[in-house]
Amino acid sequence: DNGGYEHYLLKEISEQPDTVARTLRGRIDDRFHIAHLGGLNMDARETRSFRRVKIIGCGSAYYSGQIGAQLIEELARMPADAEPASEFRYRGPVVEPDTLYVTISQSGETYDTLAAVQELKRKGGRVLGIVNTVGSAIARETDGGIYLHAGPEVSVASTKAFTSTAVAFALLALHLGRVRDLSPADGRRVCEGLRRLPEQIKEILTLEEQIRELAIKYADAPGMMFVGRVRGYPVAREGAQKLKEISYVHAEAYPASELKHGPLALISPELPTVAVVPDDELLDKNLTTLGEIRARHGRILMVGHRTSEAADDCVVVPKNENELDPILLTIPLQLFAYHAAVALGRDVDKPRNLAKSVTVE
Ligand code: BG6
Repeated sequence: DNGGYEHYLLKEISEQPDTVARTLRGRIDDRFHIAHLGGLNMDARETRSFRRVKIIGCGSAYYSGQIGAQLIEELARMPADAEPASEFRYRGPVVEPDTLYVTISQSGETYDTLAAVQELKRKGGRVLGIVNTVGSAIARETDGGIYLHAGPEVSVASTKAFTSTAVAFALLALHLGRVRDLSPADGRRVCEGLRRLPEQIKEILTLEEQIRELAIKYADAPGMMFVGRVRGYPVAREGAQKLKEISYVHAEAYPASELKHGPLALISPELPTVAVVPDDELLDKNLTTLGEIRARHGRILMVGHRTSEAADDCVVVPKNENELDPILLTIPLQLFAYHAAVALGRDVDKPRNLAKSVTVE
């Protein structure tokens, strides 16, 4: 049932105030400013024994894992990184006892991710699963994990599972941080930020008409560049992924500072840029990059927390804590890809050549 929406994708984008609230429900403790994650099956001593976090997933799950790695590094000050599941499993990974492995899968059935879980288990690794589908293969084979509770995701391109995964990582990062050095005050700041998310997502959804007009304006370009720095970079990658998956417009994502080391040669009026520019400590650096793009006559759509003369168009979203902003900044890019795909007459919910869950190698 698509609930009166023209496409499941738009329904699932619009559900996010509720799905994010469901991922959070019952998991925030206002007394100690910690997260309750009983499904991890780990006591405090064991939780403290890990020194690193390795995150594994495919496609959008992998990009949400990059947001997760950033959250864990910032809040728990543990080294963390994300890698595509297939790369991980084929390169004969070194599995270490002091590394906590976290696999991500909406369906819980993606073959490459499941095979990575099995490889890890075989080598004695401790593996968690951030999974949407209860009782799925990855949920069963992992040592513990976090269910998203986002409800069934029907459209092939992931949206609500992506934001819920990022929220689950914020809870995990809070949990790992609070058994280490994250202060009660910072724990409280994160808890309060998490609670603000559903209302702020509602506000972003009211920007749909503006974003639809922008999608129509930019959808005739043969390709688009997506850029961001640090917290903005995984958001840019996911924005590019959404656009290519459902609209078939070529889209490339780059760390903003890497532009000058190659892709700046591509910048012209025919290759507009979507720039993810949060109001954080990297704002000035990002605005400088926009100036460099402008100087090459590149058109710029900026998604951030303010307008800027450096951009042709700006989508302004509500500000949360710096660490949580990537979750909110993703949503305008989902709407942008959706409306670009509609404007181009694409089969939005069932894009060519793709499957919701890839259960083969
Ligand atoms: C791809 C889907 O095939 O699999 C993506 O098209 C998804 O939307 C990816 O992100 C991973 O799927 P899952 O179910 O493991 O999260």
